[in-house]
Amino acid sequence: VLNNGQEVLGNGLRGASAQQRHGRTGDIRMNAGEPIQFTDPDFQTCPFPAYRRLLAEAPVYRDPVTGHYVVTQYDAVKQIAADAQRFSNRCGILGEIEGPRKAIADRILAEHGLPIVDVLVSGDPPEHRFHRSLIDKVFSLARVRKMEGYIQLVVDETIDAFIERGTVDFFAAAAKIVPVKIIADQMGVPRSDLATFRRWSDAAVARIDPSTDQAQFTQALLTYCESQRYFVQKAQEYRLRPADCLLSDMVHAESDDGKKLSLIELLAIAQLLIIAGNETTTNAMSSAMLRLAEDPDLQGRLRADPALIPAFIEEALRLEAPIQGLFRRATQDVEVCGTKIPAESIIMVRWGAANRDPTKFAHPDDFDCQRTNARQHLTFGAGAHFCVGSQLARGELRIVFETVLKRMRNIRLAKDSSAVVHKPSYINYGLSKLQIDFEVGA
Ligand code: HEM
Repeated sequence: VLNNGQEVLGNGLRGASAQQRHGRTGDIRMNAGEPIQFTDPDFQTCPFPAYRRLLAEAPVYRDPVTGHYVVTQYDAVKQIAADAQRFSNRCGILGEIEGPRKAIADRILAEHGLPIVDVLVSGDPPEHRFHRSLIDKVFSLARVRKMEGYIQLVVDETIDAFIERGTVDFFAAAAKIVPVKIIADQMGVPRSDLATFRRWSDAAVARIDPSTDQAQFTQALLTYCESQRYFVQKAQEYRLRPADCLLSDMVHAESDDGKKLSLIELLAIAQLLIIAGNETTTNAMSSAMLRLAEDPDLQGRLRADPALIPAFIEEALRLEAPIQGLFRRATQDVEVCGTKIPAESIIMVRWGAANRDPTKFAHPDDFDCQRTNARQHLTFGAGAHFCVGSQLARGELRIVFETVLKRMRNIRLAKDSSAVVHKPSYINYGLSKLQIDFEVGA
């Protein structure tokens, strides 16, 4: 019997097959005696068999390396996300920098930029409510609907660039391109500056990545300051002349009592959108394409009935959540699933595991487009911090797969042992390569 997960075993999945990668086989053996380490790259590229074990035996598990309390049970994850009073989003992990790097960050920001403030994903009420009320107005479903024609153009021009080749690294040529173009456009960045924007986006991710060394961290902050200067100028421009993009809408958004975002808040939110809207959607797109490439029947069914595409996307999102887990800080001593967690502990809510909780989803490792409750997955979080961009991401994914199925047929993995490469990460789940072959036409 496991002592609240302290002795849960490793997943033993080195060199896993495609079936195993998706967790569709039920018979994966664990290596006795090896504790699960969420920092282990082998675990990160295939955490699913270990989730089964955690869900059955240790819904709250203390990671031996980070000391984070990892919660996997669906109901517990949802309850934590709904309780901002006991579980704070101010953890110093994704927002304002804390710990030994704070002094470096403060010096660079004082000399070259403006301070970073905690907003949205790293904020708590009451500020969170204020920021969110403005951002929700900007990211409305109606706004996304209005963007559909434009998203279709971005998707078409992206596919045009490789369609004649019959083979492509879909990750690099499509999944990484569509979301970055859309976010750049929405931030008012012209296509001629796309390479610079991409550099800012990579630096934004490096700034919050604990595995960067001091030189990389310093460089990431300097690059961040460069992007701040750019967006200060853009905000001033839009203040005088509003434009048809999300950044301009944010500059002008007003709460019911007439309050607007300060420049510093606006910069922090712009930075967060660059991080939040990019890699997540990229990972969702490549995971869903991998499913499709491995399953010719699925391609046939979706082509015969395109109305099934949204259900296909939800099921892909449920099974391979691009953000596997995020953080909360316990503001007081708490008890979760019978485990006592002391105040100030860092808790990781593991959305990707909760999505495979068998008490919520029958046969949770099966891919089933007919699943009636697939949309109840926690891939976009839950509660007050529920993803701002979920409608945009769903819109992008739907249009990409509608277009792919119309323009490409017989999609299959390239016959190359390195066609699929997974990228290990503590919080994200996704690929860094997906080489597919296909024929042109439906
Ligand atoms: C498939 C793609 C995406 C996934 C899987 C995803 C996932 C998530 C998750 C799990 C959260 C909850 C954070 C928490 O509870 O601490 C979140 C929040 C957020 N997401 Fe997304 N996201 C995606 C796309 C986007 C896009 C396209 C944007 C914007 C362009 C975006 C912007 C945000 C923002 C600003 C928050 C913070 C909300 C708050 O704290 O109130 N996301 N996202």
